[in-house]
Amino acid sequence: MEWKTRITEMLGIRYPIIQGAYAGFGTSKIAVPVSEAGGLGIITAGALKTPKALREDIRRAKTLTDKPIGVNLSVGICPEIDEMREVAIEEGISVVETSAYKATDHGKRLKEAGVKWIHKVATVNHAIIAEKQGVDAVVIVGLEGVGFKSVDQLPTLTSITWAAKQIKIPIIAAGGIGDARGFLAALVMGAEGVYMGTAFMGTKECPITMRHKQFLVDTAPNDPKMIRKVLTPPDPGMLEKVMKQKGNIPHDEWRTKLERVLLKEDPDREQSFEPEEVLRAAPASLAVSAIDKIVDVKDLINGIVNGAEEILNSDVFSS
Ligand SMILES: Cc1cc2nc3c(=O)[nH]c(=O)nc-3n(C[C@H](O)[C@H](O)[C@H](O)COP(=O)(O)O)c2cc1C
Repeated sequence: MEWKTRITEMLGIRYPIIQGAYAGFGTSKIAVPVSEAGGLGIITAGALKTPKALREDIRRAKTLTDKPIGVNLSVGICPEIDEMREVAIEEGISVVETSAYKATDHGKRLKEAGVKWIHKVATVNHAIIAEKQGVDAVVIVGLEGVGFKSVDQLPTLTSITWAAKQIKIPIIAAGGIGDARGFLAALVMGAEGVYMGTAFMGTKECPITMRHKQFLVDTAPNDPKMIRKVLTPPDPGMLEKVMKQKGNIPHDEWRTKLERVLLKEDPDREQSFEPEEVLRAAPASLAVSAIDKIVDVKDLINGIVNGAEEILNSDVFSS
């Protein structure tokens, strides 16, 4: 069956499945297999650390696939972000995803250069603002997903169905999605594509350790630690404490602390390097419910698409 949405048309991809950005390891190693399998792989500029390394990684990707590849610019996190953006433009990247904070200036420049601009947000209100600012499509991450948590963030189902009533540009659903049912459900809710971070981490090609991948397989979504980490809002006491430090400590240091609170980590605690501690702190979402074993990217994508087709052909949908 042909999976045609405004997202597949806009991005020139076979399936409306996009791989999420990853600080630290979101390089061509994961983006290329995703694009080759018919989705959209995204290289996270910040993971490459310098514009030179980003250029090299984009060029590496192009030697391995002729399919479209995107670049993520995480505002406030990605170093030398203006230079990174220009590298993406110069290297002929056709779609750039911005995220984390306001990205209007980047979006303006990308559009002038003829690059499609996708912006990622956590709330429906921010999606409405992004539409007004001229984005070509918006990723909305529901509460079940990994990312900075907002006090007015809704679960994925409510976010997408509510946004679909208010937004005309294509919506891409994220947050807890990782299998055929989640994919199909997102499209039924009104999304025209899905965006998956945690689920692609459970693939053979993702450049993280096997131990980390096994942790994703072994962790259940109803693990109380997981529920607390993913679903609960940031600790109000810690948030208040960090907000009081604004202006009293260097801005970069303050913002790092704020981001740690939003990710529900202790802003003042030294990072532990004990493997167990690092694993427990590792970002992963309720999409672990979809990770039963470590598979190839191609098998993950084909499994999602074929599974969705089976559901559509099942008795549930027969007239
Ligand atoms: C390890 C990890 C690192 C991430 N780093 C970034 C990042 O640097 N920039 C960004 O926009 N999103 C980042 N994300 C969020 C993902 O791109 C995506 O929005 C999120 O994982 C979607 O939810 P899901 O995990 O339920 O699929 C990260 C996610 C994970 C799991």
